[in-house]
Amino acid sequence: MYNNRFPILTPDEAAAHVSNGQMVAFSGFTPAGAAKAVPRALAVKARALHAKGEPFRIKVLTGASTGRSLDETLAEAEAISWRAPYQSSSALRKQMNAGKTDFVDMHLSHLPQWLSFGFFGDIDVAVIEASEVTADGRVYLSTSVGASPTFLQLAKKIIIEVNGTLHPRLRDMADIAVLPPPPHRSPIPIFHPLDRIGVPFVHVDPKKIVGIVQTNEWDEVGEFSPPDEASQRIAGFAVEFLLSEMKAGRIPPEFLPLQSGVGNVANAVMAGLGDNDKIPPFYMYSEVFQDSLPALMKSGKMLGASTTSLTVMPSTLQEMYEDMDFYTSRIVLRPQEYSNNPGVVRRLGVISMNTALEVDIYGHANSTHVCGTTMMNGIGGSGDFTRNAYFSIFMCPSVAKGGAISAIVPFCSHVDHNEHSVQVVITDQGIADLRGRSPEERAQLLINNCAHPTYRDYLRSYLANSRKGHLRHQLGKAFELHENFVNFGHMLGKGGSTSA
Ligand code: COA
Repeated sequence: MYNNRFPILTPDEAAAHVSNGQMVAFSGFTPAGAAKAVPRALAVKARALHAKGEPFRIKVLTGASTGRSLDETLAEAEAISWRAPYQSSSALRKQMNAGKTDFVDMHLSHLPQWLSFGFFGDIDVAVIEASEVTADGRVYLSTSVGASPTFLQLAKKIIIEVNGTLHPRLRDMADIAVLPPPPHRSPIPIFHPLDRIGVPFVHVDPKKIVGIVQTNEWDEVGEFSPPDEASQRIAGFAVEFLLSEMKAGRIPPEFLPLQSGVGNVANAVMAGLGDNDKIPPFYMYSEVFQDSLPALMKSGKMLGASTTSLTVMPSTLQEMYEDMDFYTSRIVLRPQEYSNNPGVVRRLGVISMNTALEVDIYGHANSTHVCGTTMMNGIGGSGDFTRNAYFSIFMCPSVAKGGAISAIVPFCSHVDHNEHSVQVVITDQGIADLRGRSPEERAQLLINNCAHPTYRDYLRSYLANSRKGHLRHQLGKAFELHENFVNFGHMLGKGGSTSA
């Protein structure tokens, strides 16, 4: 639905409002709620201009990653000069790693406030998906909220993609508020994952809305693959760990809210928690609501979820639309500065569970840069939760690429989460509970419990031959495994036989 106060534009007409070099903020947190028709039209415009030898590249802001029609399509058209705060597109990743596109990798909770503080300059145009916009400027958002309230507040011009597939009752989940700038902030009154503090819409100055583009497309959320053996083993250890924490009285009987990262390991862990009778019904305070969760809600295992996006496949979303009475009372869709707010995460005692590419023997975690240089996706919200969690868990398979890469290394080639924030590490080999442990003890636990057996001798020998101090290292050899992988395709070097 839309109001006849605003002109109806074709995607091409909307794209005409965007000029070379401008900063464009698109809705979207994962493919959920991502703008679709206008970014595709911008890619067509870019190709046409490039064919004539004219420049057309824009700076792209979103809440987080997006769907195919946005990052992938614009990157394939070489139309992105600068990007923040997160992405997961293979075309864009290649351009970032080739130095063709600048990328700012940042904590997702920071994005709205960095924009309102002016750290990134002006937003020229916001392209926001919504289910409805009213004549007085109330915008009812989509399957994600993300940073759209801030984009709408700050943009000079606004284009709304009104998507006919969106259920009008999505607004019953939305809880929209925008943090005022310091020093005018009060404590955020969220004391329970389902507390609401805002209104169901974003209010904008209607004069800024240059037009509406009508669409009728579902979010481009792909199928998730069934968990592999390593993910299932990790999930089993994660459940075992949470149960032992309950038994020890360190998790209260009513449990604590969970945050879970994205991907197959996360889905396997959530399924594992759902299947275990001894885990009591729980809440989530997370940024992404994934496909495995509606079933947990229906079974009564999950009581409710605070999130900023409904990242579920169209078929799952359709099933949810069939029972909106059930879901609207159990899901709150918040802006990402609230869903990921460090103060609220600390207050609620959220247990964070995220995935790393590698963890070093002292507990630093790398979530982003392969061999220290190649960007994978970005830190996303993992830091918002990890740093402030009741306790933080990092999970990853002990090896990657058929064993050629060890996830436990002497020194992380890039650090996203440092040893002070990482408390528990789980691989398919076992659990390392690092809380209260000295560096030496952490190293022993990570090597003995989490490293793959193929790499344990190397890591033990690295430690044994290290220069002594509070930490022990051989600085000249700290990245030998990474160098080996780059040079020989295997971390243990030619023939897989290097010793430290
Ligand atoms: N070195 C090099 N490559 C590695 C690696 C390592 N140490 N560990 C894994 N990989 C490769 C895998 O082989 C795989 O490659 P492929 O795509 O060619 O098969 C790829 O990285 C992804 O690994 P996978 O095991 O499938 O992990 P995933 O899909 O769970 O993703 C992260 C892991 C770390 C990339 C992902 O969780 C991420 O981007 N995290 C940061 C953001 C975040 O945590 N968001 C959630 C907050 S709510």
